[in-house]
Amino acid sequence: MSYDSTATLERRPAEPPIHDAAAFAGMRRAGRLTAEALDLLVEHVRPGVTTQALDDVVCGFARDHGAFSATLLYRGYTHSICTSINHVVCHGIPNDKPLREGDIMNIDVTLILDGWHGDSSRMYYVGEVPRRAARLCDVTHECLMLGVEAIRPGRSTNAIGAAIQGHAERERCSVVRDFCGHGLGRVFHDAPTILHYVEPTYDVPLRAGMLFTVEPMINLGRPQVKVLSDGWTAVTRDRSLSAQFEHTVGVTESGVEIFTLSPKGYHKPPYGPL
Ligand code: MF3
Ligand code: CO
Ligand code: CO
Repeated sequence: MSYDSTATLERRPAEPPIHDAAAFAGMRRAGRLTAEALDLLVEHVRPGVTTQALDDVVCGFARDHGAFSATLLYRGYTHSICTSINHVVCHGIPNDKPLREGDIMNIDVTLILDGWHGDSSRMYYVGEVPRRAARLCDVTHECLMLGVEAIRPGRSTNAIGAAIQGHAERERCSVVRDFCGHGLGRVFHDAPTILHYVEPTYDVPLRAGMLFTVEPMINLGRPQVKVLSDGWTAVTRDRSLSAQFEHTVGVTESGVEIFTLSPKGYHKPPYGPL
């Protein structure tokens, strides 16, 4: 999700809801189905395929499993997935242009199952990709997992941002500031806001029962983005490559549960021979 600038972050943030065991059970199912949709896409991503065809795959998969996409008709968005290619940071809109060998692409899927939201995204390689593109995808996946591993009750949201920002900047990459992770559950975008960098003026204590996403966007160049005239597509201002991975998680008594892990082990590309 997005916000205008850090200046708009409330000084006293909305109290994040604390969810019960039934909510965790619902999120486990929604998260798993979302991960299965991302697994299914692996065999479809190749040169010549259009992002609209990938949208159709997810739309059909959701329908066949009694779910639907949270993004379809969300705030005027008319597609089931976001497809963000190369210098597109997020919210790329599926279209009829064929994918090209060497592209890297984020696919972001949010499925609603029995009212619960599973929100996850991964990077995909279109054929063989340049070494610097693969390195960016590796660093970004490491950022996601370091951010997730920082979660436990007694810590606060800045522990997540510190883990992500520290790793990205050690690797000479930058963290996008204009989009953030978010609480979710029966609603798509809820408290708390999860920043992927350290912001001393905004820090929410983590408590068991919180549900949210971690979804760092990492650039090879500078962190600034701009949104194109379609009102959605966010791109890097310097046109450098950008990557993102996203998990939906819950804070447990002892740490964290990831709801959107790949059942097939397709955690990051290359996803190997099929
Ligand atoms: N799934 C995105 C997120 O991680 C939100 C996409 S909203 C859309 O929060 F309208 F652009 F699809
Ligand atoms: Co999200
Ligand atoms: Co998402």
